[in-house]
Amino acid sequence: MTQVQLDVAIVLAAGAGTRMKSDTPKVMHQIAGRTIIGHVLNEVNSLSPKDLRVVVGHGREVVEPHVKEIAHSAKTVFQAEQKGTGHAVQLALADLSTTGTVLILAGDTPLLRKETLAEFFEAHSKNKNHASVLTAELPDPSGYGRIVRNEDGEIVAIVEERDATEELKGINEINTGVYLFDIATLKESVKKLKSNNSQGELYLTDVIAEIKNGGGKTAAILSLDYTETLGINDRAQLAESVAIMRDRINDQHMRNGVTIVDPTTTWIDSTVVISNDVTIYPGTWLRGKTSIESGAVIGPRSTLADVKVGAGASIVESQVSESEVGSGSSVGPFSFIRPGTKLAANTKVGAYVEVKKSIIGEGSKVPHLSYVGDAEIGEGTNIGAATIFVNYDGVEKHQTVIGKDVRIGSDTMLVAPVTVGDGAYTAAGSVITEDIPAGANFHI
Ligand code: UD1
Ligand code: MG
Repeated sequence: MTQVQLDVAIVLAAGAGTRMKSDTPKVMHQIAGRTIIGHVLNEVNSLSPKDLRVVVGHGREVVEPHVKEIAHSAKTVFQAEQKGTGHAVQLALADLSTTGTVLILAGDTPLLRKETLAEFFEAHSKNKNHASVLTAELPDPSGYGRIVRNEDGEIVAIVEERDATEELKGINEINTGVYLFDIATLKESVKKLKSNNSQGELYLTDVIAEIKNGGGKTAAILSLDYTETLGINDRAQLAESVAIMRDRINDQHMRNGVTIVDPTTTWIDSTVVISNDVTIYPGTWLRGKTSIESGAVIGPRSTLADVKVGAGASIVESQVSESEVGSGSSVGPFSFIRPGTKLAANTKVGAYVEVKKSIIGEGSKVPHLSYVGDAEIGEGTNIGAATIFVNYDGVEKHQTVIGKDVRIGSDTMLVAPVTVGDGAYTAAGSVITEDIPAGANFHI
């Protein structure tokens, strides 16, 4: 990627997003585990702008703290009334003394990649343009601003769909809403914007004609992959973008040596880390800060959220969250592993077993039909089928501690707080209410 010297970046995110019909601001909807604006800021940040500004307005109380959290250096600019993209940029430039180049883009185009932005920057800088707009040719351009070029192919104006004649509507090259400007030129021209259009707004798009007519150098630069420039205005477009992002993420993992048996039913958040030679079976959803080491086998039909999976582990038809599954361990089918669980290496959690906030030592097994809650289990221990860790007395949760090499008989109730010492055996069907010393054998 080329070295980008970006002075300022402005992300426009003050609009209402009416067509989403949502109480959640549009840019806060999720794609692959990140908000829409999170994706945009992630790509823009990788170009290291010296000054990053986000224009917020609608849903500011939610959007502003989120922006600060994910992009620490970002400044937010408040646009109380949404009087158009030109107005938003006027506000963002108001106290800006820097010169150089500014990138402007919308907060609702999450599929744009940093590589595309970098190439756009390179073309703009090489040609010493005053204004460049990134364009795309869409199979269906309706709703977008159209790019009007003269006989020499130079861009002369951008005309919004609502303001376009039938002839102009026939143009399928559209404005993606991504621009690069020389800051001094832009400052001059945004002052001159007028709201003489069908929406009575100040359109940023009008600065292109303004700069061109004033003798500035303008260019429309066509991006090759139009899917990157899709904006999200409603839930159907959200689903379309989610699917494109899924394919993109899966492709990346497959190129890195991960086997994904059915990429159309495998959903992986952009934050997930997977080593090579991991196999993922259909219907699997990997979320958040999940990481998976080499040789592990996940799925079919499993959901992992914030899970650390060790090398060679296997997780089949199970739900696991905020937990660790040690190398060589096996989970499932039909296991439910809840937050705060740590399975050491080579453990087994089998069919219809629920584990919550528990540590299970190396080589230990909970093979069938059990509930393990608030427990610590040592190494080499076996928990018999249908054992219940009775951790809740109706008021408080209590801890159970089980030593190493213990054999808990089937259908045992361990009434916490209770301790079972190393090497102890308990008989099937016991209700354990008192501590059991090491080596005890209730079996004979
Ligand atoms: C805009 C462009 C259009 C382009 C399309 C690409 C204008 C006039 N039109 O249209 O040429 O094809 O994007 O997606 O710019 N916003 C603010 N404050 C405002 C108004 C908008 O911050 O007062 C933000 C919105 O939150 C959004 C972005 O600017 O992120 C674009 O605004 P939107 O109203 O969606 O413009 P489009 O109609 O999509
Ligand atoms: Mg839009």
